[in-house]
Amino acid sequence: MLDAPKNRPTLPPEIARRRTFAIISHPDAGKTTLTEKFLLFGGAIQMAGQVRAKGEARRTRSDFMQMEKDRGISVSASAMSFDYGKYRFNLVDTPGHSDFSEDTYRTLTAVDAAIMVIDGAKGVESQTQKLFEVCRLRDLPILTFCNKMDREARDTFEIIDEIQEMLAIHVTPASWPIGMGRDFLGCYDMINERLELMDRADRNRVAESIRIEGLDDPKLAEHVPDDLREKLIEEVAMARELLPPLDPQQVLEGHMTPIWFGSAINSFGVKELMEGIGAYAPEPQVQPAEPRQIAPEESRVAGFVFKVQANMDPKHRDRVAFVRLASGHFQRGMKLTHVRSGKPITVSSPVLFLAADRELAEEAWAGDIIGIPNHGQLRIGDTLTEGEVLRVTGIPSFAPELLKVCRAGDPMKAKHLDKALMQFAEEGAAKVFKPMMGSGFIVGVVGALQFEVLASRIELEYGLPVRFEPSQFTSARWVHGDKAAVEAFTQKNKQHMATDNDGDVVYMTRLQWDIDRVARDHPELSLSATKEMQ
Ligand code: G4P
Repeated sequence: MLDAPKNRPTLPPEIARRRTFAIISHPDAGKTTLTEKFLLFGGAIQMAGQVRAKGEARRTRSDFMQMEKDRGISVSASAMSFDYGKYRFNLVDTPGHSDFSEDTYRTLTAVDAAIMVIDGAKGVESQTQKLFEVCRLRDLPILTFCNKMDREARDTFEIIDEIQEMLAIHVTPASWPIGMGRDFLGCYDMINERLELMDRADRNRVAESIRIEGLDDPKLAEHVPDDLREKLIEEVAMARELLPPLDPQQVLEGHMTPIWFGSAINSFGVKELMEGIGAYAPEPQVQPAEPRQIAPEESRVAGFVFKVQANMDPKHRDRVAFVRLASGHFQRGMKLTHVRSGKPITVSSPVLFLAADRELAEEAWAGDIIGIPNHGQLRIGDTLTEGEVLRVTGIPSFAPELLKVCRAGDPMKAKHLDKALMQFAEEGAAKVFKPMMGSGFIVGVVGALQFEVLASRIELEYGLPVRFEPSQFTSARWVHGDKAAVEAFTQKNKQHMATDNDGDVVYMTRLQWDIDRVARDHPELSLSATKEMQ
């Protein structure tokens, strides 16, 4: 995140109340359960259990495909808006599967903060760490929720130490757990000096909150048995001595994470976390762009596409571009400029995502995510403005790690394959390369499961069975340089050359040695493993 310009004006209240964030976690830590409780307490759903289907669907591969088929579910879950107290929360979903790291990365460019959920028994797991590193690249503020305290969990200090050490971030307890597993009573709220007790009888009820005057308050003894009370007093004293106090500025800069303990399934600790998001997660932030950055309080609307989802309705072949508004007050029917093509587009049916429903967005503000249905004009990385030529930066595209040749099961339908693959490339679901020599397409993905998902979607959405076969190449690098130099290099290395779905020149090989050789023999060119979406 950029340093905010000095003396930044106060944001208009509608923008200042927005909190746009994502949840990052290792599978099974409780992201789905927590999301559901957010929606429940945000009044977006009436009953727990409505978004459950999604969490379960991810468990098995076949069910995962089913979820992909049911585009409706995954789309509405991609961005969810709800109110909590005076705040408007925009929760942007990060794909849970580790195969979708690129998609996840882009999602994290559209948020101002992340909630890191960890399992109290498992601590920091591999996927948490990976996602955390991505957040760190952007210095995103991170709030931590340590879940499943109703089960046997690790020692509280041990968990905090592990986060500090593995993630190199200061941790400050916002709450302190009282007991764990079967003895878990609740938490001492270290910010508000409150006692929060868990209601085990009703999982969807909010815990009781008891105001006490510090830990010496005799009222504590009425609710917490002697042994747990002594332990709590001792631990809180130690925590106050050993751990840094909450410093909101450090949280905003991404150097410190406050941690709440709770049990999402029991709705415990969730409201405190939501209050914490309101208080410590930032307002919509300044967006890096060229030739100048975009400030949220600017009156003119600007936004960028960070995700495209196609074929939500297979009959219509429509696409929805997910746009993060970077500035201004958007109103339905506005005419915006699509900066890449220079063409105006009238946004007549923008969509806001309210839990399971899509609704027409009559208006939206900086920080919000709106969906814009379109026929393929809008691509990931595109900027929309009210006329000014601005280009949002920092949305990368990574070189795929796995390459395969894609062939149509029925050669007569090869033409349709072209169209299908281009569509998935636009969605960012795969890279598609057309080699200069030979026929067919080479498809590149970041994780192996994506080939299966692609094959299943191409069959389902285009009625086209496809096969993925091994490719002779294992690496792809974008070639940059003077036009004539790139052309000369291309002509000399035809058997290695391809163009990607945007028409950019790519060098393919199976040997790192080749890549090193090109770098050595062609100082006039550069090969890169990422390119910025534009
Ligand atoms: P994910 O999206 O991060 O993958 O996790 P999800 O919410 O699906 O939760 C994973 C499992 O952990 C689920 O159990 C869920 O019920 C359970 N869980 C979530 N929060 C808590 C908690 O606070 N305490 C306890 N004890 N369990 C929790 P499951 O058996 O896989 O599914 P289900 O049968 O409960 O639906």
